[in-house]
Amino acid sequence: MAVQFLWVVLLALVLVVMAVGPTLRRSYPYVWWCLLGYPATVLRMLLTWRRLTTAVGLAVPRRPARALFGEMVVKGDPLRPVPPRLGAPKLRRGGLEVVVRLHPGQVPEQFAVVVDAVVHAWRVHAVRVTSDARGFVRVTALAWDPLAAPSVPHSTRPVLLRALVGLLEDGRLWVIDFRTAPHWLIVGATRSGKSTLIASLVKQLAPQRVALFGIDLKGGMELSLFEARLSALAASRAQAAQLLAELVAEAEARMELCRSVGARSIWELPAKLRKVPIVLIVDEVAELYLMATREEKAEVGEVSTNLLRLAQLGAALGVHLVIAGQRVGSDLGPGVTALRAQLAGRVCHRVSDPGTAEMALGDLSKDALDAAQRITLAEQGVAITAGDDGQWLRARSIHVVPDQARRAARKYAHLAPAWPGLTTADDSDDSEEGVYL
Ligand SMILES: Nc1ncnc2c1ncn2[C@@H]1O[C@H](COP(=O)(O)OP(=O)(O)OP(=O)(O)O)[C@@H](O)[C@H]1O
Ligand SMILES: [Mg+2]
Repeated sequence: MAVQFLWVVLLALVLVVMAVGPTLRRSYPYVWWCLLGYPATVLRMLLTWRRLTTAVGLAVPRRPARALFGEMVVKGDPLRPVPPRLGAPKLRRGGLEVVVRLHPGQVPEQFAVVVDAVVHAWRVHAVRVTSDARGFVRVTALAWDPLAAPSVPHSTRPVLLRALVGLLEDGRLWVIDFRTAPHWLIVGATRSGKSTLIASLVKQLAPQRVALFGIDLKGGMELSLFEARLSALAASRAQAAQLLAELVAEAEARMELCRSVGARSIWELPAKLRKVPIVLIVDEVAELYLMATREEKAEVGEVSTNLLRLAQLGAALGVHLVIAGQRVGSDLGPGVTALRAQLAGRVCHRVSDPGTAEMALGDLSKDALDAAQRITLAEQGVAITAGDDGQWLRARSIHVVPDQARRAARKYAHLAPAWPGLTTADDSDDSEEGVYL
C-alpha cells in the first residue's frame, strides 16, 4: 500500500514538473535552472559520460589493443575503456562547472576539439574547456546564451575609474577598470556596437570625479551626445591636434609636480595636490591618421606622436585613453603599431576581416580569434574581451540609447572640470577618498 502511495506521489510530482517546467523556464530561468535544469543536466552527464568519452576517443582502454593468444597476436578494441574521472558538478549562475582529471598522455586540446559533442550530449547551449591546473581541465557549460538579453543591475556604487559596461558570458558583470588596464582598444566593423559601448562607459564615468575628453572626427556626431559632460570635444583634426598638445602639456605639468614632491604617480600626491583623472575617448581613430596633402602629413605626425606620448606617460599621471576604430592596422601610419602596443585593455566586436581580430586579440589565444569571427551581424554589442585573469570571454554591452546618454551627460554636467587647466580634485567627499589609493 505504502509503495503504491509513493508511486502515486512520484507520478503527481512528475506531472507537476512537466506542467510548470516550461512556464518556470520562461519567466524565472535562473530558478528553473536551479530546481530542474541543473539536476537533469547532472543526471544526463553521469549517464552519458562513459559512452560520450568512448565515442570521442577520450576513454582509455585498460588493456593493450594487442594480446598474445597462444602463438598468435590478437588485435582488437578492449572492452569497457575507462573514461577520464569527472569531478562533482558545481552549480553556476545559468550553468555548471566540472573539473575532469586527464589520463596520462592526454592534453586539454583533445577536450577542446570535442566540445560540440559535449554540447549535444548534455543538451546545453555552449561548453568551454579551460585548464588552470596541470593534469585537469575545467569544463564550463552554459544552459542558455546569457548575452541574448543581458540584464544588468541598475544601481551599483560607483568606484573611481571603474565602469560597469555590460554582462560577461559567465554571468559576471563586465567591468572596464582603468586601474587594471589604463588604456583600452575597442575594435569592430561598422554597426558592431563600438559607440554603444562608449556610451555605456561614459554613462558610468559621468557621475565620477573624472575629466572626460572626446575626439570624434566624424564631425562630433557620436560623442556630441555627451558634450555637456565633456571638458572638451574635438571634432576636426586641427582641434584634435590642439587638444592632444594641451593634454601632453597637462601630463608634463603633472609629471613635474610629482617629481617636485617625490611622488611616483598622482595617486601618491598629498590630497591637496591630487589631480582629477582624465579619460580621453577617441571614436574612429583611423580618421586621425588619414591624410591627403603635405601639410596634413605634418599634422598627422604631431597627432600620432602626442597620442603615443599620452599612452606612454599616462597611467601614472592619471591620463587614460579609450581608442575605438574599425581598423587599427599599421597601414594607417607608423605610430599606430606602437600605440596599439600600449593599449592593454582589448575589446573586439564583430569584425569583417580576420586581420582586425588578430590586431586586437592576437596575443590572447587562437580560440579568442575564432570566437570573435563567429560573432554574427545580429549580435550587435557582443564582443570578446579579456578578463582580469587574462582569460578571454564573450560579453555584451548595456544597450544605452542616445537619449539616455544625453540625459546622463546633462545630469552630471556640473562635474565636468573646466578646460584648459583642470581644477584640483575636491577631496571634501570622504566616501571616495579610498579609491584614490
Ligand atoms: N549592446 C547592444 N545591445 C543591443 N543592440 C546594440 C548593442 N550595441 C549596439 N546595438 C545596436 O547596434 C547599432 C549600432 O551600434 P553602434 O552605433 O554602437 O555601432 P558602431 O560600431 O559604433 O558603428 P559605426 O562604426 O558605424 O560607428 C545600435 O544602433 C544599436 O541598435
Ligand atoms: Mg560608432
